[in-house]
Amino acid sequence: MSYRVASFFSGIGGLDLGLERSEFKVVFQCEVNPFCREVLVHHWPGLPLDEDIRKLDEADIPDADVWAAGFPCQDLSLARMGPRSGLRGSQSGLFHEFVRLVRGRTPRAIILENVHGLLSSHGGRDFAVVLKALDELGYGVAWRVLNSKDFGVPQQRRRVYIVAIHRDTSSAAEVLFEPKCGDWNTKKNGPDGKKSPSIFQTIIGDTSKGPLVKSVAHCIYAESARHTGTDWSRNYVWYPDGRVRRFTPSEVERVQGFPEGWTLPPDMIGGEVDRVDSLRYHAVGNAVTPPVAEWVGRRLVAVLKSQDVQALTGTLMAAE
Ligand SMILES: C[S@@+](CC[C@H](N)C(=O)[O-])C[C@H]1O[C@@H](n2cnc3c(N)ncnc32)[C@H](O)[C@@H]1O
Repeated sequence: MSYRVASFFSGIGGLDLGLERSEFKVVFQCEVNPFCREVLVHHWPGLPLDEDIRKLDEADIPDADVWAAGFPCQDLSLARMGPRSGLRGSQSGLFHEFVRLVRGRTPRAIILENVHGLLSSHGGRDFAVVLKALDELGYGVAWRVLNSKDFGVPQQRRRVYIVAIHRDTSSAAEVLFEPKCGDWNTKKNGPDGKKSPSIFQTIIGDTSKGPLVKSVAHCIYAESARHTGTDWSRNYVWYPDGRVRRFTPSEVERVQGFPEGWTLPPDMIGGEVDRVDSLRYHAVGNAVTPPVAEWVGRRLVAVLKSQDVQALTGTLMAAE
């Protein structure tokens, strides 16, 4: 039997896709953006899909073991120009709507994802608000910054993952931290003590004809299809004859670890290409990298199963 997930701020379902690959079954989604909703309906036909978390009543959420939410990051992101309004912002502040629902239903476990700017917003006070809210609701919490490039995806994308497990102070850390160092914990400097070259310095491709790309892309942001000067200038494809182009929406999907064409449902093919491309760039830039979610999901499944076995053993021993 699979554990069930209710997904909030579902976007195009990057978190959902990764969790389903790790034995979870998504039973509910909530997303306000019409384009993202079309993508969700295409990949999860017939699934309950609510529109706006602000209008959502806790009683309308189907039973689920885990609630997953990559809540909006606009007010927390370091990529934002100017001061960050953080959890007081109209978008990232929707975290409080999520907490309102958690208070009513108390799911067994929670997965949150956001930009690592969450850790520093308002000098760390916003992150304290998140931890305090979960603690007051009875959750044991752990968090870790995970980088997509360590999960078989060619992209530097550091995001904070928070796992909370109800009435359990130790298991959340077991989900996010392995007992031994993984491959990604390599030293920054070489054996000679010299600084290793930047991960963006390795170039791959056909040097005589092209195309050529950096072997690891810079973080993919939510962008439009129009080149406005700085939006795609860090990630591009070039050719020895001097031509340069930006990544296509399909290439951006691949760099995020999505299956090809994930954001191009059949009824959109042949539509206004420019408009659809903008929507795709934007939605994919906002998404969770599915392989990272899959890793978190597998480890959470293991912890939930172990809790269930312990509970069953306790019940059997009490009955003897
Ligand atoms: C960071 S993205 C989440 C991406 C998602 N985890 C994924 O993997 O695709 C945040 C999402 O919250 C959605 N959102 C913003 N306001 C909302 C609201 N009031 N109710 C539901 N969803 C909302 C946005 O449209 C956006 O898709």
